[in-house]
Amino acid sequence: MEKLFVGACIPAHFRSFTLDSIRQRAINEPEKKAAIDAVEQWITVGYVEDPVTKRYKSGLVLAGDYGRGKTGTMTPAIRHSLEQGKSGLWIEVTDFVGAIQSGYRDGTSLERLEAAQKVDVILLDDLGDKSRDGAETDDRRRIIYQLVNYRHNNGLPMLITTNLNGQQMAAQFGGRTVERIMESCAWVSMGGRNLRRE
Ligand SMILES: Nc1ncnc2c1ncn2[C@@H]1O[C@H](COP(=O)(O)OP(=O)(O)OP(=O)(O)O)[C@@H](O)[C@H]1O
Ligand SMILES: [Mg+2]
Repeated sequence: MEKLFVGACIPAHFRSFTLDSIRQRAINEPEKKAAIDAVEQWITVGYVEDPVTKRYKSGLVLAGDYGRGKTGTMTPAIRHSLEQGKSGLWIEVTDFVGAIQSGYRDGTSLERLEAAQKVDVILLDDLGDKSRDGAETDDRRRIIYQLVNYRHNNGLPMLITTNLNGQQMAAQFGGRTVERIMESCAWVSMGGRNLRRE
């Protein structure tokens, strides 16, 4: 399994986190419960009920401020998929976009983009940044759009963590991308304490 986790690019820091361990840490934090329950639902039944629209979605967005536990709560979902024999990629969004842009020179961009488009499950970690004021560059927006649009059109699940709300995400990545994310994913907030500051 360790080999599979490395192959899917799951960072070492997050490999050992489980839903049980976050439940234990968040025992007095009702603000984290909906997020943990949503990941559990995704793992056990394969879809998540959106708290607002009550529709069932194949993907999940965990949104909230820094250090609330979004990435460590979401990672067990992709780990589960790998354990089930599915293919998966854990993608740090900034690194991914940077790698695609560097690939323009050595011709590896398309290959990298297609891998993320077609893999069974992706985790997009840290989509956007609230400390960034305004829009992404056109090229960065286009890369994210191509990824999201392909997966949306083909019904392939996306697991996303972000510290943006829907409006901020639309300002950063464009309405077309965010519309597709909203249609494919349940949007669940994760609040409570900053666990990094403990
Ligand atoms: N499943 C888990 N089990 C135990 N502890 C966890 C778990 N998930 C997160 N934590 C703890 O909370 C800390 C912050 O978690 P995480 O990195 O997931 O936050 P985040 O909400 O993704 O933050 P950011 O927005 O800055 O990326 C971790 O370093 C870890 O100490
Ligand atoms: Mg994170």
